[in-house]
Amino acid sequence: MSGTETKRMHGKVALITGAARGQGRAHALRLAEEGADIIAVDICETPDSMNYPLATDEDLAQTVKGVEALGRRIVARKGDVRIKADLVATVEAGLAELGRLDVVVANAGVTAMNSPTLLQAFVDGVEIDLVGVLHTVSATLPHLTAGASIIITGSTAGLMKGLVDNPKIGPGGAAYAWSKRTLASYVESIALQLAPSMIRVNAVHPTNTNTALLHNDDIYRAFRPDLKQPTREDAMLAFPAMQAMPIPYVEPEDISALVAFLASDESRYMTGLNLRVDAGAMLKGS
Ligand SMILES: NC(=O)c1ccc[n+]([C@@H]2O[C@H](COP(=O)([O-])OP(=O)(O)OC[C@H]3O[C@@H](n4cnc5c(N)ncnc54)[C@H](O)[C@@H]3O)[C@@H](O)[C@H]2O)c1
Repeated sequence: MSGTETKRMHGKVALITGAARGQGRAHALRLAEEGADIIAVDICETPDSMNYPLATDEDLAQTVKGVEALGRRIVARKGDVRIKADLVATVEAGLAELGRLDVVVANAGVTAMNSPTLLQAFVDGVEIDLVGVLHTVSATLPHLTAGASIIITGSTAGLMKGLVDNPKIGPGGAAYAWSKRTLASYVESIALQLAPSMIRVNAVHPTNTNTALLHNDDIYRAFRPDLKQPTREDAMLAFPAMQAMPIPYVEPEDISALVAFLASDESRYMTGLNLRVDAGAMLKGS
């Protein structure tokens, strides 16, 4: 057997939402490294209710470069997970070029913790973090067959008791926590429905992860409510309190390692699971 054939994702195609940067890009690179071709989609624009910038066209181009440098093919499209037609078009473009779909990583997500456009932050948050995942599943499901794996990105924010109802996190934060909590239950229900078809669905729940979603003023304020304009350095002092292990955050590649395992046949009988990559965060209680 050649080296290529021994790669565990050889011959497979993975679709990843929010693939322009952060965890989505890390997943694209990791799965490509393991032999998969990639269908990448990202909004590459910033909705008005967000007060930190989302990815850009240049970010998505960087993901494309990275995957191609690994010798894999990639079909990348600008698209908004709130719009199902965008996802359907992306899937069609990917299938036309790559011929199949085996893995779906519903990763796109936002948090606008203290957004000034408050109610819109709740609406946008739910539409991206929850409805966007449902759209991703419904746009891809008709093309999945036995052996396929769907991986949904949740968050420990959705697993913590009491966070959703905490008025201090504001509408954007509440939308985030509620959406992620709902995803944890969605995974169990849909996994049961899809199990007879041998299609798996699991969720990964990261703690603080070293991406732009963590490194923005909203999150710095949430971690340092004692300061008016906390800096990255101020937040860095508070980040470790979240985890049981003495670290401020995990890296996107730490999440990719679990995504790659769940995407592969090595996890072929694992479904309906909510798995944490949280450096012990949830062991501390909340
Ligand atoms: N960073 C953290 O601390 C952390 C912790 C737990 C969970 N998460 C989750 O991890 C996932 C990835 O986030 P990240 O940390 O890589 O942050 P990120 O902001 O770097 O990446 C999110 C990506 O999703 C894209 N996106 C946002 N809205 C979109 C839309 N409507 N349609 C298509 N693409 C859209 C963004 O442009 C961006 O490229 C998210 O679901 C997030 O909720 C992050």
